[in-house]
Amino acid sequence: MSVAAVSDDKIPNNVDLASDKRLQRALEQWLPSYLGWWQEIGPERSFQARDVYLRTAISVETDGWANFDYVKMPDYRWGIFLTPREEGKTIGFGDHMGEPVWNEVPGEYRNMLRRIIVTQADTEPASVEQQRLLGMTAPSLYDLRNLFQVNVEEGRHLWAMVYLLHSHFGKDGREEAEALLERRSGDADKPRILGAFNQPITNWLDFFFFTMFTDRDGKFQLYALAESGFDPLARTTRFMLTEEAHHMFVGETGVDRVVQRTAQVMQQGKDPRQEGAIPIEILQKYLHLWFSLSEDLFGGEISSNAADFFASGLKGRYKEAQYEDHKVLTGEYRMTVPDTTKGVGKLVEKDVPLRTAMNEVLRDNYVDDCQRAVDKWNRTLERHGQSARFTLPSRRFHRNQGLFAPQQAGTRFDPAGAPLSDDDWSRRRDEWLPSAADMAYVESLMKQVTAPGQIAAWVAPPSKGINGQGFDFVYVK
Ligand SMILES: [Fe+2]
Ligand SMILES: [Fe+2]
Repeated sequence: MSVAAVSDDKIPNNVDLASDKRLQRALEQWLPSYLGWWQEIGPERSFQARDVYLRTAISVETDGWANFDYVKMPDYRWGIFLTPREEGKTIGFGDHMGEPVWNEVPGEYRNMLRRIIVTQADTEPASVEQQRLLGMTAPSLYDLRNLFQVNVEEGRHLWAMVYLLHSHFGKDGREEAEALLERRSGDADKPRILGAFNQPITNWLDFFFFTMFTDRDGKFQLYALAESGFDPLARTTRFMLTEEAHHMFVGETGVDRVVQRTAQVMQQGKDPRQEGAIPIEILQKYLHLWFSLSEDLFGGEISSNAADFFASGLKGRYKEAQYEDHKVLTGEYRMTVPDTTKGVGKLVEKDVPLRTAMNEVLRDNYVDDCQRAVDKWNRTLERHGQSARFTLPSRRFHRNQGLFAPQQAGTRFDPAGAPLSDDDWSRRRDEWLPSAADMAYVESLMKQVTAPGQIAAWVAPPSKGINGQGFDFVYVK
């Protein structure tokens, strides 16, 4: 099957856009609105004219999606790329298992599907907005370049989702595409849809933890959608995952480099604060914060929506092929839930129908992946002779969605998962989450470093550069 990239003047794509004039026109009309949004609320204006060493996707072949060159961000070739269509592909799970995949939106699932696509789409521009000022305090040119790579790819992911809305949802889709450029992260009147995407990202520690934990939610959502019976969605998200891997690399290795720097200083018998590094206890608090905010993105532990998404064949599980039973008409999932009838903070074990537990199943995969990264950071501590270890908090800690949100559970929980009164929470909160003083300290370290090969004092340089270049390469001119 040939999926040669069509070199289209305005919108690079492998979907033969030129053959659908109406769609092409609609997207070409959306393009200036998109660029207007990028200029207004994308990376800070002074960076828009800079030459950045970026990777651009020009096709989905292995040699086509990683073209490196200097590009000015507004000239980045945001394109529409779907992985190739497979002949004879069938739906892999749910009530329609075994039927041919859909290339058009099934009428009965139109609203559900639109909701899924819009919710995913909304996170892409939101993260660009959250990160817009970070370039001003980048710890090195290498990091500055990685930030902009993440930003332009999130922009491309918005394109990918807007293509689905425009090509399959008619007038409603076009309106949703406009609205995606109108909402703003953190705006009181027009906020982004999901909580973590309205949180401020004011410094690079937030950024590294965000790309580690919040982009990683994105990874699992995209994997679940890559199983979709609606094939254009499956093929779009499948390709997005290749780019998403880099975002998580930025986060996971970013945190690791911060840990490394702190541990090195401590190994030399010095106080991290004296050396402008970040103490381990502050890092643990940021870990608590972003892990818990990101867990909320998976939705309620017991969810009829999740069951409907699975039953309808729209959203599967992470690597659905690893399971034996793809219909899940029977089967239960045992989870710990609060039981307020037994008293405040009482927890009981409960079996729930597996289909209603699909959010929790995906969250399980996510938590395992996070634990793997935490283990890696702990090995970095160990290598530098440090006995402290990072830990993921209990899933009950600091939740705002689902069964363990205080309004649902009737109580709060500490990082070990034990119930906690509101008073105790207020008294001890700053032991577990970044305090005003912690944030002020981290902010005080954030200074822009622009000389090639130089790096700020709070983070170690990477072990290697991008695309075989050295750390001292001029990643941004
Ligand atoms: Fe994305
Ligand atoms: Fe991402």
